[in-house]
Amino acid sequence: MQKRAPTDCPVHDLITERWSPRAFSDKPVAPEVLASLFEAARWAPSSSNEQPWAYIVATKDDAENFAKLVSVLVPSNVTWAQHAPVLALAVAELAFAKSGTPNRNALYDVGAASAWLTVEATSRGVFVHQMAGYDPDKARQVFQIPTGWEPIAAIAIGYPGDPESLRDREGAPRARKPISAFVMSGSWGKKATFLP
Ligand SMILES: Cc1cc2nc3c(=O)[nH]c(=O)nc-3n(C[C@H](O)[C@H](O)[C@H](O)COP(=O)(O)O)c2cc1C
Repeated sequence: MQKRAPTDCPVHDLITERWSPRAFSDKPVAPEVLASLFEAARWAPSSSNEQPWAYIVATKDDAENFAKLVSVLVPSNVTWAQHAPVLALAVAELAFAKSGTPNRNALYDVGAASAWLTVEATSRGVFVHQMAGYDPDKARQVFQIPTGWEPIAAIAIGYPGDPESLRDREGAPRARKPISAFVMSGSWGKKATFLP
């Protein structure tokens, strides 16, 4: 199933073709493909090149660890995400490793790494659905996440499945705010002049 973004300005196919499916096929993601997704995350930019990200990943054939990831999701995400062949949890280190002072860009950087991962996935026909709907305290306990690291988002990864199984949700149109609502120049709320 394709859900190309109806953009106002032309952008790369990797952007228009990416979307967040809930219906995943049971086709596994090959280890070398999965490794490339995290290699892409590795090369994301970050403040002071701190790379404050970690990913806890489980493939479905690793039943014990996959069940641990499913166990931290909220029920509304379990219903569909349990069928994805790969689940992951993105985690951020909140302080600079060397100085211990707070890294106020840590969450921003982990988001960038996950975006890199998502673009690489799209280039390989793999889809990614990020989730805020999980229990961070339970995740901390289940995965023994050390102090100073914060769970940021759960992530389902895999190939698109039969949209009929989730027809109402998968059929929803793509929607975005207009670009003029968030790209400004000069002063807050003033539309940038280069915009259409
Ligand atoms: C940080 C983050 C958290 C999200 N949390 C959830 C979630 O818990 N459950 C869900 O079904 N979708 C979740 N989504 C998916 C968004 O709803 C989706 O990205 C948004 O509706 C735009 O759709 P698109 O990704 O298909 O363009 C999340 C996305 C992001 C980036």
